[in-house]
Amino acid sequence: MSNDYIVKDIALAEFGRKELDIAETEMPGLMALREEYGAEKPLKGARIVGSLHMTIQTAVLIETLVDLGADVRWASCNIFSTQDHAAAAIAASGVPVFAIKGQSLEEHWDYLDRSFLFEDGPNLILDDGGDATLYILLGARAEAGEEIIPVPGSEEEVAIKAQIKKRMEASPGWFTKMRDQIKGVSEETTTGVHRLYDLQKNGQLPFPAINVNDSVTKSKFDNKYGCKESLVDGIRRATDTMMAGKVAVVLGYGDVGKGSAASLSGAGARVKVTEADPICALQAAMDGFEVVLLEDVVSDADIFITTTGNKDVIRIEHMREMKDMAIVGNIGHFDNEIQVAALKNHKWTNIKEQVDMIEMPNGHRLILLSEGRLLNLGNATGHPSFVMSASFTNQVLAQMELWLRGNEYDNQVYILPKKLDEKVARLHLAKIGVKLTQLDKEQADYIGVPQDGPFKPEHYRY
Ligand code: NAI
Repeated sequence: MSNDYIVKDIALAEFGRKELDIAETEMPGLMALREEYGAEKPLKGARIVGSLHMTIQTAVLIETLVDLGADVRWASCNIFSTQDHAAAAIAASGVPVFAIKGQSLEEHWDYLDRSFLFEDGPNLILDDGGDATLYILLGARAEAGEEIIPVPGSEEEVAIKAQIKKRMEASPGWFTKMRDQIKGVSEETTTGVHRLYDLQKNGQLPFPAINVNDSVTKSKFDNKYGCKESLVDGIRRATDTMMAGKVAVVLGYGDVGKGSAASLSGAGARVKVTEADPICALQAAMDGFEVVLLEDVVSDADIFITTTGNKDVIRIEHMREMKDMAIVGNIGHFDNEIQVAALKNHKWTNIKEQVDMIEMPNGHRLILLSEGRLLNLGNATGHPSFVMSASFTNQVLAQMELWLRGNEYDNQVYILPKKLDEKVARLHLAKIGVKLTQLDKEQADYIGVPQDGPFKPEHYRY
């Protein structure tokens, strides 16, 4: 076994492997791709940098990419989301992985840097939140003499700048070389996809990108049904609080907000929602949730969860108004939804890993989960395997598309064709006993679709 890895404890590999074996039974999409393409090895020659939560489910994704012929190096995209036994199992299998639950921000960027260190450099990126893409593009801009301002004022800015400087000193021209040999990126999440469309808009996208998030079988399942299971799981593992009867505020009612509100409401909490978009606000109201302003409910609610992908959603003035022992957490991609930095000069008492109690000037205490980082992965183990199978089947199809036909694409952001989206769904039906009705020829003609799909026009919203 090579020692080209950084994990918490390689001895956890056996435990990781046992959980991997179980996860495989719940990930029919990925296993079907292994069955379909394992012999053919369509990803032979692909050298993939992965920057995505190093969980058990991700381990099944990695082993699928390897089974299809790819060389892979991996880092986690969040400092708290790694499952150390999953990382150990992957390292023990010979795939270089750099991820420890609770790694520092400096380590986050250092590990990401290490995941690029293939002998001949990588040629594909598989990203979640856009950090791997950002790292290379900012570095290349710095090499061109431009000033780099990633996330103004944040801790992250200091850490990424330091890492870029280190790499520039060690290997002049490295970022530009990396950028130029990347054939494309597939992006997992809403926040990373926003970054890609921004790059496209500004003419700064240097390679084709596939937006995996907006496959229907990703965002309408992982973001929604995934959070429906994993949000309450995170709150319970962190606090063991009684959910039933509590007043919970879900900030944002997009896909993640819908799953989060359903999660809390399913656990018996009385859920209120805040929204900026009138369509989503109307959906929340008609789903039976009171739609409120945070200011109006902040002193009465027990649990606050941000799901917006936006910044400064829960601000210091809100936290000053919260009741004693209010629970505050975020399930959006980045930690800037809650103004955690503004709490730094308060008294913090660490309760256990990823759970802190913070004393406010008026004596009230707040329970802050995962320091404001996505709590379903920080305080629990993220989404269940089955829903991640749908997401990751899209990821593998996207990587194959970029590797096999990337040259036919412009430097723009693309979504996988509906036919593949339907294929991903199809691969998950048998596992849960779904029987699909077959349209006869007359019926298919009557509604104007081919008998074997696609069943909906592009503009259909599900
Ligand atoms: P979305 O765009 O569907 O929903 C976000 C919603 O927040 C929108 O409806 C928007 O109008 C609303 N919003 C924005 N600013 C607001 C504010 N100040 N107050 C109230 N509402 C506001 O995005 P989606 O897919 O729901 O993703 C949300 C975040 O969650 C992203 O950062 C995404 O990357 C992340 N994510 C996290 C997952 C996890 O497992 N923790 C899984 C999938 C996505």
